[in-house]
Order: sequence, then structure tokens, then C-alpha cells
Amino acid sequence: MSTRRVGIIMNGVTGRMGRNQHLARSIAAIRAEGGLRLGGELVMPDPLLVGRDEGRLRELGEQFDITALTTDLDGALRDPDYPVYFDAQTTQGRERALSMAIEAGKDCYCEKPSATSSSVALALAQQAERAGVRNGVVQDKLFLPGLLKLAHLLESGTLGEVLSASIEFGYWVFPDHIGAAQRPSWNYRAEDGGGIVLDMFCHFRYLLDHLFGGVRAVVARAATKIPERVDEQLRRYRATAEDDATALVELANGGIVTIHASWCVRPYRDDLFVLKVDGTKASAVADLRRCRFQPGEATPRFTWNPDLPQELDPREAWIEVPARAPVQNAFRYQWERFLAHLVADEPFPWSLRDGARGVQFAELAAESIAERRFVEVPEW
Ligand SMILES: NC(=O)c1ccc[n+]([C@@H]2O[C@H](COP(=O)([O-])OP(=O)(O)OC[C@H]3O[C@@H](n4cnc5c(N)ncnc54)[C@H](O)[C@@H]3O)[C@@H](O)[C@H]2O)c1
Repeated sequence: MSTRRVGIIMNGVTGRMGRNQHLARSIAAIRAEGGLRLGGELVMPDPLLVGRDEGRLRELGEQFDITALTTDLDGALRDPDYPVYFDAQTTQGRERALSMAIEAGKDCYCEKPSATSSSVALALAQQAERAGVRNGVVQDKLFLPGLLKLAHLLESGTLGEVLSASIEFGYWVFPDHIGAAQRPSWNYRAEDGGGIVLDMFCHFRYLLDHLFGGVRAVVARAATKIPERVDEQLRRYRATAEDDATALVELANGGIVTIHASWCVRPYRDDLFVLKVDGTKASAVADLRRCRFQPGEATPRFTWNPDLPQELDPREAWIEVPARAPVQNAFRYQWERFLAHLVADEPFPWSLRDGARGVQFAELAAESIAERRFVEVPEW
């Protein structure tokens, strides 16, 4: 079997997502397995690590057996041996680097959000379309085992017409010395591109678009519930970005979705992310790995009487949806799809334009918060 090398410039891989999800669990894992089998050939991603600190890049290179590294992004973009650019920098650094990469004719893949404003996100998508480069944005939640199972239920019509849905996302991110913060401190500073609306509403948009066929309008509220936090060096800093957001979304089909996303909650639910859907024929509840559903035929007949203990357990009579394929890391799944898009021309709908819709949704939610009103979502 012939091996096809694909040179990928990887920028921002010393960070949390870049290192753990994109390098360790995706690209380095594919390399360690001898490449990705696609049709009659093996595709071998060959990364060039780019960052600001040569020492940290070297350390990373040693860990993953990668020798190509540089602090010179311009030089890397001029190198024809690396036709693909990947970006997992902090969001603010991404726009300029992506634009330079498109200009240099590179195929581009990046973390979400693709930019900090919808106008720039859309301009980047248009620039890539004009240049004819292949492009994509990470939409990992679509490929989590629980959400893949839910997608299957929706596509097969098992749930009937979707009436309503709810999304509960979040956990307690330690703001103090009781526990070291589990997330980078820039996430809590608006001036550094932080905030739960920009961070999470991109994810919500692609979930609502791809699972339910699009959104029509949004009304949202957000707050900075914890105004002071402790950073990576255990210094106190002022949190200027919102850490809790609630939204009500009208779907294109008229269904209603409620969303609560927070880094200031202690979960009492099945997982850190739970999406529940109620349809005319059945309901379903998906978390990161599992999905259960309850068809009309199995729905308990509850009657309301708080004077007596409830005899029927609302958590019974749900059917577990089995996995249809071996479970794999969601980021790797999407990397494999992107590689297949690059070398075998397979479709890749999670483009920069699709990613720009996520930034648009976050921006419209922010507009709704500022103006305290429902905002329509124009089609792109
Ligand atoms: N898909 C997801 O579920 C998901 C989850 C978390 C974060 N993200 C996104 O991934 C990106 C990276 O997030 P992270 O949590 O890995 O952040 P991080 O702070 O851990 O890593 C940021 C990376 O960017 C680099 N960088 C470049 N310029 C920088 C600057 N001026 N200041 C600070 N760092 C700079 C850092 O060296 C590092 O490699 C963000 O855009 C974020 O929105 C996506």
C-alpha cells in the first residue's frame, strides 16, 4: 500500500486543546498507528510545530517524536512542503494567522471560534472560497458518541416532530485556592477574547443547525457571576468576561430550545453536557457518551398529586441507544474527515462559512443581552 505524506503546519499546539486533542489524540495518534487508511493508500500527517517559545516546542517535539519545529510562522507559510495550516492559538491570534495562511494558498483547519467577530469570520470564509483552498472549523461536539446516537434518532424520524429541547452545559471552574482553575485565565477576561458566550454559542449553533435544521431567533442573558478569580500563577485577577449565560432559541421549525451554560454551577445531572429533546413520537436525552430515548408506547402515564409519593420513576422506561461504530475521540474523528476531504475529495460541510455562523450566533446572543430583546438570525 502506498503512503501519502500530508505536511501540516500546527500553530498553538503548546496550548491545552492543541496539545491534548489535536496533537496527542489526533495527529500523533494517527502517526503512531502508521497512518490513516483511505481507499487504497495510507495517509501520513507530517506536522511542523509552530509557536512562540522554541524550548516548549522542542519539549513537545521530543514527547511526540516530531523534529520539524519553528517560531517563524511566515517562513513556515512559505514552505511548499507543508500545504495545510492548522490553528489552535487563543482566538484573538487566529484571524491574522488564518488570513496569512489563506493568502499563502494553504488549506486551512482551525479551532472554534474562527474569529472574534462575525464580520471577520465571514470575510475569512469568503477569502478561502475565493482562493479555492479547502477549509474547516472544529465542531467536535457533533462527533461525541452520545450526540452521534441522538443524530441517528433524529435522522431516522424516531422522535417525530421536534417540539422543544434543552441544553445544560457547565461545571464549577475553581476561582480560588481551593482547587486550581481547570481552564486558562484568558477565558475569563473579555479583553483577551474570553467569555462563555463566544466560547460556547459557537458549539450550540452547529449543534442546532446540524441536528435540528437551523435557528430563527435568540434571546439571551449573561452575567459575570464570579468577579475575581485566581490565574495560572495563583495571582488574583478581575474577571471581565461573562461566566454564565442563559438563552431561549427559536428553531427554524418553530420548536423552542432553552440553553443554560455556566462555569459557576455544581452539576446534579448525568454529565457536564446534557441535551434533551421532546418530539411528537418520542423523547431523547443525550450526554457526552450516552443517549436514551422513550417512545410514546413506553411513556409512563403520570398524574399530578404532590400529596402522595410519586409511584412511577421518571428515570425508568428509557431505552439505551447502542453505539453503531467503535467509539473514538471526537477531535480525531473530525481530523480524519478533514484528511479524507483533502486527499480523497470527500465532503466536509464543517467549513469556515459554517464556523462563521457560530460566531454570528454568539454575536447575536451578545446583541440580545445588551439590548434586552429577541434577535432574528439572518441566513448566511
Ligand atoms: N473545541 C473545543 O471544545 C474547545 C475547547 C476549549 C478551547 N477551544 C478553543 O481552542 C483555542 C485554544 O484554547 P486553549 O484552551 O487551548 O487555550 P490555551 O491558552 O491553553 O492555549 C493557547 C495557545 O495559543 C498560543 N498563543 C499564541 N498567542 C498567544 C497569546 N498572545 N496569548 C496566549 N497564548 C497565545 C499559546 O502559546 C498556546 O499554544 C481557543 O480558540 C478556544 O476557543 C476549543
